Amino acid sequence: MELRKLGTSDLFMSPIGMGCQQFSKGIGLAGKQKKNLNDYEIFNIVQASLEVGINWFDTAEEYGWGESERSLRKALNHTLEKPIILTKWFSHFRTSKSIIDTIDFRLKALGVNCIDLYQIHNPTWVSIKKEMRAMARLVEMGKIKYIGVSNFNATQMVTAYESLGELGLPLISNQICYNYNYRKPEEDNTLSIARYLEIGIIAYSPLDKGKLKRDVLTWLTDKGIFAVMGVSSPEQVYQNIC
Ligand SMILES: NC(=O)c1ccc[n+]([C@@H]2O[C@H](COP(=O)([O-])OP(=O)(O)OC[C@H]3O[C@@H](n4cnc5c(N)ncnc54)[C@H](OP(=O)(O)O)[C@@H]3O)[C@@H](O)[C@H]2O)c1
Repeated sequence: MELRKLGTSDLFMSPIGMGCQQFSKGIGLAGKQKKNLNDYEIFNIVQASLEVGINWFDTAEEYGWGESERSLRKALNHTLEKPIILTKWFSHFRTSKSIIDTIDFRLKALGVNCIDLYQIHNPTWVSIKKEMRAMARLVEMGKIKYIGVSNFNATQMVTAYESLGELGLPLISNQICYNYNYRKPEEDNTLSIARYLEIGIIAYSPLDKGKLKRDVLTWLTDKGIFAVMGVSSPEQVYQNIC
C-alpha cells in the first residue's frame, strides 16, 4: 500500500490501519463488545497486517484497560517491523492532570519510549484548552510525538486546533466514526473543516462493524481519509486488503 502523510505530521501511514479493540481479551466494556482472542490469534492478525502492508496500529487505554496495548506489544516483540503506534487517553471522569499522571503506564504497556500519536479518546466536560496544554507538555517531555483527538465534532476540533496553535503545535488528526452508512461527519462539516485545516481524518468502524463489504474501504481512502478497520482473524485481513 502506498504510504500517505497523516495531517501535517511526518507520519507516513498506509491508508488502512489495524484497530486493536479486539485485542482486549474480553476485559471491560470495550473488550466485551469484541471476540475474545488469545495471544496466538492476535499475533497472527498482527503478522497478516504487516504482511499486506499495514504499517500502523490503533489501540487505547480503554481497550481492556491496557490489555490491548500489552497484547500488541507482545505480538510486535516477535516481529522485525516497528510500525506506527496510535493510542488514546481515556477521558471520562478524569481531569486533564491525568494525561500526564498516566502516560508512563501507556508507555510501559506498549513497551515504547515515545508514542507516535496520542489521542484524547472522547470530548468530555473537561476544558479542551487544558487537555491540549497537558498533551503539549507530553510532546515537550518527549513522551509523545504528535497529538490527535477522537470523536470531536467540528467546533471541538477547531478549539483543539486553535489551543495547540497558541502553543506552536499542530493538531494532527481526528478519529471519528465515518462509513458508508454513517455520514454525519459530511453533514456537520467535520470533514470539510479538517481538510481546510490539514487535520487528518481517521475513520473508525469503516465496515460498520462488519455490515459493509471491503469496497467501502476504497470509498473512504479515495477521499484521502485513513480507515482503521477491525478483524477477528488473519483471513479477514487478506479478504479486506488483497
Ligand atoms: N475512537 C473511538 O471511539 C473508536 C470507536 C470504535 C472503534 N475504534 C477503532 O476502530 C477499530 C475498528 O472498529 P470496528 O471493529 O468497529 O471496525 P469495523 O472494521 O467496522 O468492523 C470490524 C468487524 O467487521 C467484521 N469483519 C471485518 N472483516 C470482515 C470480513 N472480511 N468478513 C466478514 N466480517 C468481517 C469483523 O466482525 P467479527 O468480529 O464478528 O468477525 C470485525 O470485528 C477499533 O479496533 C478501534 O481501533 C475507535
